[in-house]
Amino acid sequence: MKARILAPTRTSLRRMAAVLRRGGLVAAPTETVYGLAAHALDARACRRIFRAKRRPANDPLIVHVADLAAAENLAVWNDAARRVADKFWPGPLTIVLPKRRAVPGIVTSGGDTVALRCPAHPVMRRLLRLAGVPLAAPSANPSGYVSPTTAAHVAESLGERIEWILDGGPCPVGVESTIVDMQDPGRARILRPGAVTARQLRAVIGGKRLPQAGQSKDAQPLAPGMMARHYSPRTPLRIRAPKEIRRLLVKRPPGTALVFFRKPGRLAGGHDAVHWLTQSGRGEEAARSLYRVLRELDRKGYRRVCIERAPRSAGPLAAVINDRLRRAAGHGKA
Ligand code: TXA
Ligand code: MG
Repeated sequence: MKARILAPTRTSLRRMAAVLRRGGLVAAPTETVYGLAAHALDARACRRIFRAKRRPANDPLIVHVADLAAAENLAVWNDAARRVADKFWPGPLTIVLPKRRAVPGIVTSGGDTVALRCPAHPVMRRLLRLAGVPLAAPSANPSGYVSPTTAAHVAESLGERIEWILDGGPCPVGVESTIVDMQDPGRARILRPGAVTARQLRAVIGGKRLPQAGQSKDAQPLAPGMMARHYSPRTPLRIRAPKEIRRLLVKRPPGTALVFFRKPGRLAGGHDAVHWLTQSGRGEEAARSLYRVLRELDRKGYRRVCIERAPRSAGPLAAVINDRLRRAAGHGKA
């Protein structure tokens, strides 16, 4: 099988919606990363996602919906969760709630909760409307590898295993959605940090704190996405403090690529192993380029990559980037 990459014209969107309704798979852009979508209420279609990604059966899928009304049929909502959806949907936020019977067990890996997200990307939104069904969609990468932020990324790692890719250009956010567990609003917690921050959520949910799973003693069963070595490139990755990476620039070990957070000011020639995530120093720009840079470096076959920790001055996305770097380096939480 060799995937076909389609421009999101009206004709191709209609065609892809029909593929999805019939139980097929379509990779499609969201504002965070590309997803591999299937009819969420069709257990056989969802099984195809697990097969194509070689995803372990115990790693549940996020279900994408066109709006809150569609999400009401899939989960048992509470007032605080509705307020959160009202405020942040459509957008890069996934809400975990008790599931309703309509959701097949394969989607939730047999669990009694479901993760729901209403995406903001216009292509995914049109696809959801045209398909008229909720769409289960994990990131469109082989399980454990770096998430894709372009159609070409999807094609290079899943192109032999799926038939259709909708090309919506590079994803504007670039890192996966925030996941918040809202089953019990009094004990809400963040399972995965993302562009919607704890502070923004707390302003809507109320309460003093919003713990992040894995960072407090009490928080245990984690989303499998919280496991160590997730989102990992093949090339071993080391995280370095700003001072350390500058030192490495002076005396770069052979076979080592350096990734600065921000483009260094003075760079003499001959630094083709020196990379950076942003020119401006803004977290948004760095988040958009993070997975592209990790994938590019994997292709170049370095022995190792040393990457600079994102500075707090880059804003709230710095913490999200550092979370993904720790996972990519295989440190899990830490
Ligand atoms: O931004 C995103 O969320 C992207 C786009 C495509 O929407 N999707 C994405 O999906 O990142 P995925 O499958 O790569 O990551 C979803 C994470 C997984 O770690 C999964 O274990 C967790 O969400 N998850 C899914 N259902 C869950 C549930 N009921 N409870 C807790 N975690 C859940
Ligand atoms: Mg993923």
